Amino acid sequence: MATPPQAEFVRTPIPGVKNLITVGSGKGGVGKTTVSVNLAIAMALSGAKVGLLDADVYGPNVPLMMGVRDTPYAQEGRILPIEQFGVKLMSMGFLNPGDKPLIWRGPMLHSVMQQFLRQVEWGELDYLLVDLPPGTGDVALSLIQTAPITGAIVVSTPSEVALEDGRKAVLMFRQVKVELLGMVENMSYLIVPETGQKLDIFGGGGAERTAEAMDVPFLGSLPLDPQVRIGGDSGRPVALLGAEDPQAAGFFAIARRVMERSAQAARKAPTFSVED
Ligand SMILES: Nc1ncnc2c1ncn2[C@@H]1O[C@H](COP(=O)(O)OP(=O)(O)OP(=O)(O)O)[C@@H](O)[C@H]1O
Ligand SMILES: [Mg+2]
Repeated sequence: MATPPQAEFVRTPIPGVKNLITVGSGKGGVGKTTVSVNLAIAMALSGAKVGLLDADVYGPNVPLMMGVRDTPYAQEGRILPIEQFGVKLMSMGFLNPGDKPLIWRGPMLHSVMQQFLRQVEWGELDYLLVDLPPGTGDVALSLIQTAPITGAIVVSTPSEVALEDGRKAVLMFRQVKVELLGMVENMSYLIVPETGQKLDIFGGGGAERTAEAMDVPFLGSLPLDPQVRIGGDSGRPVALLGAEDPQAAGFFAIARRVMERSAQAARKAPTFSVED
């Protein structure tokens, strides 16, 4: 990835948004969107004002996972986000529903990201989560260069192939001086329903060890849980069950750590410094 020198970045804050947090990974399919929707709901149920921007313009899955089929309205040139489960949402999937693929070139991607950040009426938000597409490409770069990111969450499964790519994501954020809020280990293990036996399908603990080796905070592990998949596919993420529910509790614990770490990160580098 070609990284322009820091001095060229002008990171303009998004009015009303206190913390901008990206959820990324190196590898695809490790659970970024699942983590994003459940964290957003957990934060909202914990009392925060939350938005979720689906920045995966190639495969926008947030509408399906949040159970939304509506199209946002525009008002005086601004797009009104759709609110679901107490979370304000924007996604390319609202504008291009169905299976029609969209083909993006770099400059178009950049301009759609800017519209999503700046022409959507986000209002006052404690946290705007951004669900990134897989990899370390143009979407992440467009955000990093133009908006002050409070911190990044990197999701990985514990398998070595996912971690190999996860390390690249960590290094990319480091290179462009974005604070790492921490790593999440998803699909960490499976509890066999009949026996209660714990199976380390992808080799549990790998993301935690990688986080430690790279000096990145570890935010927590989430099991491979059929209810999590069903929650996503049915548009009712498990976090809706609340903090006391055993299947949702892991998301609430991670949400709490993310909120704590964001406060620390914001103290270290105030979000509203306009330029580097
Ligand atoms: N902890 C989990 N337990 C069970 N299923 C899960 C878990 N996490 C994610 N999944 C399932 O794995 C699939 C991939 O997850 P998801 O779409 O969130 O990954 P992603 O990293 O956003 O993918 P992409 O790179 O395509 O954006 C989905 O079907 C989701 O329901
Ligand atoms: Mg996704």
